[in-house]
Amino acid sequence: MSVVEDTKTSGVDRVPSRKLLAAEPLDALSREILAVKKRLNAVILAHNYQVPEIQDIADYVGDSLGLSQQAAKTNADVIVFCGVHFMAETAKILNPGKVVVLPDRDAGCSLEESCPAEKLAALQATNPNFYTITYINCSAAVKALSDVICTSGNAVKIVQAAPKDRDLLFVPDENLGGWVMEQTGRPMTLWKGQCYVHVEWTHAAIHRIRQEHPGAPLVAHPECTKAVRMLADEVCSTEKMVAWCKASAAKAIIIATEAGMLHRLQKECPDKIFIAAPTERCRCNECRFMKMNTLEKVLDCMTNLKPQVDLDPAIIARARLPIQRMLEISARPLENAG
Ligand code: 13P
Ligand code: SF4
Repeated sequence: MSVVEDTKTSGVDRVPSRKLLAAEPLDALSREILAVKKRLNAVILAHNYQVPEIQDIADYVGDSLGLSQQAAKTNADVIVFCGVHFMAETAKILNPGKVVVLPDRDAGCSLEESCPAEKLAALQATNPNFYTITYINCSAAVKALSDVICTSGNAVKIVQAAPKDRDLLFVPDENLGGWVMEQTGRPMTLWKGQCYVHVEWTHAAIHRIRQEHPGAPLVAHPECTKAVRMLADEVCSTEKMVAWCKASAAKAIIIATEAGMLHRLQKECPDKIFIAAPTERCRCNECRFMKMNTLEKVLDCMTNLKPQVDLDPAIIARARLPIQRMLEISARPLENAG
């Protein structure tokens, strides 16, 4: 049985390339997960950083923006969110009446940790003219304090659409915020948070790998430091990496983002070679939070319907507005974004 035959959950787009699945039959555990999924009328959403075997059983694999868009339109009764906790929370905020389960409740994020709601509220209180643009990598309580949410896939558009008479406060990723300032020319006060994975790439290590592969372009995530972004041919979200690599004439491409992305890219572009940009230390390009999820935990959370995301209804009501504002701005044609 192939995934294509078994996953017909309405309202969910498919990963375009399924060539590898036709050649590689699913193992018994994966088939069991798909059977439980059918019984529950569930949808499995997976981030691009998930382990290959989870990506291969998901209905949709994508970046934070795509996953939010899928969560907003799904007709499934149960959402199985294979990513990190804040992503599953976002799905619950958009679907308060649905059951949202995740394989591991402890799958956090260093950016989320860097920005507790009380500290953000204290900073906001120092300037009533602040307009708070919050990267989706944060808690529901922080979303509830925000004017608008963004992802790496739409941050430039969201900042361009921000009111011109307000002082912009961008939280919690200072590297993404710095990159957006470069792109838009709009000054912003930046929260000093970082992705602990993406700051592992250094200018020196990237410089070395570029010398080893002189013809290969470098694609980097905007959570990387400026010193690394400066060496990149393209800086973009994980989903835009897929489109960029497909369109590129290059046969070999260096990728500076979490290691799970290489599986997705290899499936989408089977004729290209993807080179994981090296960090100075071994295996530092794997996010320990994203890698907490396993196929076993996916089956367990579906069988037991726990852990579930459970949020205070008042937080859900306040956090939904800035997420919906993001989805609405994101859907606007480019010329009307500003
Ligand atoms: P994307 O939205 O680009 O997938 O990024 C999410 C993330 O957590 C990057 O570390
Ligand atoms: Fe958070 Fe970084 Fe992991 Fe993404 S890769 S979930 S930003 S810690």
